Amino acid sequence: MSLKETINIEKLPGHVAIIMDGNGRWAKEQGKDRLFGHLHGVESVRDIVEGAAELGIKNLTLYAFSTENWDRPEYEVIGLMELLVDTIRKEVPTLNKNNIRLHVIGAINMLPENAQRELSEAINETAHNTGLNLIMALSYSSRWEIVNATQLIAADVLNGKLSIANITQDIFKEYLTTRLFPDPELLIRTSGEYRISNFLLYQSAYAELYFTDVLWPDFRRENFYEALINYQQRERRFGKTGDQIKNEQII
Ligand code: IPE
Ligand code: IPE
Ligand code: MG
Repeated sequence: MSLKETINIEKLPGHVAIIMDGNGRWAKEQGKDRLFGHLHGVESVRDIVEGAAELGIKNLTLYAFSTENWDRPEYEVIGLMELLVDTIRKEVPTLNKNNIRLHVIGAINMLPENAQRELSEAINETAHNTGLNLIMALSYSSRWEIVNATQLIAADVLNGKLSIANITQDIFKEYLTTRLFPDPELLIRTSGEYRISNFLLYQSAYAELYFTDVLWPDFRRENFYEALINYQQRERRFGKTGDQIKNEQII
């Protein structure tokens, strides 16, 4: 049986989030420039996105550029932005072919204007798709998002749209950039780093975490399947006891 066949399609995570890390080290291992790693990272993005769509996963969030990544050397930031614009432009037909709808989360107004334009065109051109939601986290950080949500909530309280007593978890969620999507159930990080690096901190409260040493440009469908199989072997308890969970499964 192939790895893919061992995945239980009935128990797929509704939302997978990935911290795509290790492009720079992958390039360094080959004596190449960091941008060479980012270029190859795009191949992995393609493979994982198509693999996720093919399996029937509904939501996939990819952490492509953090707020903190703006502090990298200028040539790397510029190179990454060019790669982003170029990739989006080229990928729209494939997204449409695979019924994938593109979304973006993050401080998008910090991106160069041509990147913003390409993104909004790609978002519009894929808006009719009903399969996988591909959510690109760009210029994103959780602390930015939570502070941003707080500002929006404060403004709504001031203008009378919202009362303080009504700020529940359900309402709070509506002010996050991820309002359209369920919380991630599986969070993957590549490259052997065991940290979250300011990604979906609020939404990942009960996500299952999966870390692999594989560097992002080497991370392909089979590695993704391994992560899904590992996820399916776990018992998710959400604060309850293991016995309670087993009884709920019987009922
Ligand atoms: C992840 O790879 C991609 C981005 C953060 C844009 P890195 O560029 O962080 O690669 P390493 O961690 O330096 O190897
Ligand atoms: C996290 O990777 C951000 C992305 C993958 C886009 P980093 O490489 O920026 O994270 P740190 O600096 O190692 O924590
Ligand atoms: Mg890194």
